[in-house]
Amino acid sequence: MMKGKKGIIFGVANQRSIAWGIAQKLLENGAEVAFSYMGERLKGSLEKLIIDYPQCKMYECDASDENQIENVAEQFKNDHGSCDFIVHSIAFADKDYLLGNFYKTPKDVFLQSMDISAYTLVSITRHFESILNDNASIVALTYLGSTKVVQNYNVMGVAKACLEASARYLANDLGHRGIRVNNISAGPVNTLAARGISDFTNLLKIHRRVAPLRSNTTQEEVGGAGLFLLSDLSKGITGETMYVDGGYNKVAVGGIDAYNLDS
Ligand SMILES: NC(=O)c1ccc[n+]([C@@H]2O[C@H](COP(=O)([O-])OP(=O)(O)OC[C@H]3O[C@@H](n4cnc5c(N)ncnc54)[C@H](O)[C@@H]3O)[C@@H](O)[C@H]2O)c1
Repeated sequence: MMKGKKGIIFGVANQRSIAWGIAQKLLENGAEVAFSYMGERLKGSLEKLIIDYPQCKMYECDASDENQIENVAEQFKNDHGSCDFIVHSIAFADKDYLLGNFYKTPKDVFLQSMDISAYTLVSITRHFESILNDNASIVALTYLGSTKVVQNYNVMGVAKACLEASARYLANDLGHRGIRVNNISAGPVNTLAARGISDFTNLLKIHRRVAPLRSNTTQEEVGGAGLFLLSDLSKGITGETMYVDGGYNKVAVGGIDAYNLDS
């Protein structure tokens, strides 16, 4: 499905990363995939993951630094010429504020989360724009906490709302070239980033009791949706947020056994 297509994934930290689920599907389907990593520690972990794919290029990138994004775009251009897909799977917020009251979030924490988790999509798109092929596809990872309150998700929910809106504006900017920009809203998955959210294990438990599919979202499920949105099969879809969450977002009251009704 992806033969002849080349692109880059931002945000594979380890084997549990959601982006690794997408990477595996892309590689299995013949895509030429490059990766960005943040810092030496994550470089080692990424190297181990892609040991069977020595052709994959790796570029260091702290996406909060626009010069580094620019450098990655330059290196990608030198190595690959042009680009057919981008995966944005980057987020950060100070975990001290992923609990308790949202109103306590200080300005610097708010702005840093917005910068790394949302603005980087705009910046990456801008720096890659000149090498994006017509009909290229961009996918960003988001979460339900953007449109509904999820206890403790706090500032990340606000940043995800900004990310989703940014994807819609980018879709409108680039649609005249057939370039598409979509979000995947994944259900909770136990990853490095997720562990920063207070009470995350309970979120997983509630999810599998309430979601119509009565199970937790897997990397493989998100990988499949990623492959679809990055491939030509989804040519008519842009500015969309596709939920890969076992139907959780569709339920108001479900899985009655998830609630302690005697308390
Ligand atoms: N795990 C979940 O439950 C869940 C659910 C829905 C959406 N998401 C989203 O999926 C995406 C990937 O997260 P994950 O859960 O796979 O966790 P992860 O920890 O595996 O991935 C997060 C990535 O963000 C990168 N990152 C953080 N700050 C960065 C910076 N300044 N520059 C460059 N990279 C930076 C990290 O290096 C890491 O690779 C995030 O956008 C996250 O919000 C996660």
